[in-house]
Amino acid sequence: MSFNIAIDGPAGAGKSTVAKRIAKKLGILYLDTGAMYRGVAYYMLNLGVAPDDEAGVCRHLDAIDMNVVYREGEQKVLINGNDVTPFIRTQEIGMAASTVSKIPAVRLKLVELQRIIARHTDCVLDGRDIGSYVLPDADLKIFLTASAEERAKRRMTELEQKGQKDVDYNKILSEIQQRDQQDSTRSFAPLVVAEGAILLDTTRMNIDQVEEHILSLCKF
Ligand code: DC
Repeated sequence: MSFNIAIDGPAGAGKSTVAKRIAKKLGILYLDTGAMYRGVAYYMLNLGVAPDDEAGVCRHLDAIDMNVVYREGEQKVLINGNDVTPFIRTQEIGMAASTVSKIPAVRLKLVELQRIIARHTDCVLDGRDIGSYVLPDADLKIFLTASAEERAKRRMTELEQKGQKDVDYNKILSEIQQRDQQDSTRSFAPLVVAEGAILLDTTRMNIDQVEEHILSLCKF
């Protein structure tokens, strides 16, 4: 039996940073499930299909053969053999992923793949519905959050560090709030604090403190 750590929470809470660190410390895999939804969004946008066009998305969904592979320790999302990872980390794709992820058929397809990976591999998974829907029996469930203002501030710093100029705090904040609203009000597997999850508000914590706290809970 594999063991699985589920880290859920809203956009910009620091899930991926902390999940990566925990996975490294424990010597297990990190599975970024958001990248899978981003991959579908990217694929649909490239075809000219709007992410909120449920019929259109469903028409093309079967043509997607998604694989998650690891190259030099980095997760890559392959769609029909093509690595889409370099193209999916934009704000636009994040929003499109949030929209496309409302479609039940999309979720069912990706959840199936996530469960297969988790069943065979010890891993830390981050997302929105891991503890509540994908792996309700995960060994440890964390709900990582922070105020929307703090998350917008962190996202802004991250973009600035990547060299992006003219980063607009208010725009980032409003996108985060829109994504929170969309992810937590969709009808199928919304973002909720899963039963048995430990809620961690990181508004006043730094990344080292968050990591240490989660590792202290990993006493299996
Ligand atoms: O974590 P992220 O920003 O890469 O996720 C992008 C979007 O994908 C997010 O706004 C909602 C969706 N998502 C989801 O619905 N369920 C997951 N397990 C992961 C992401």
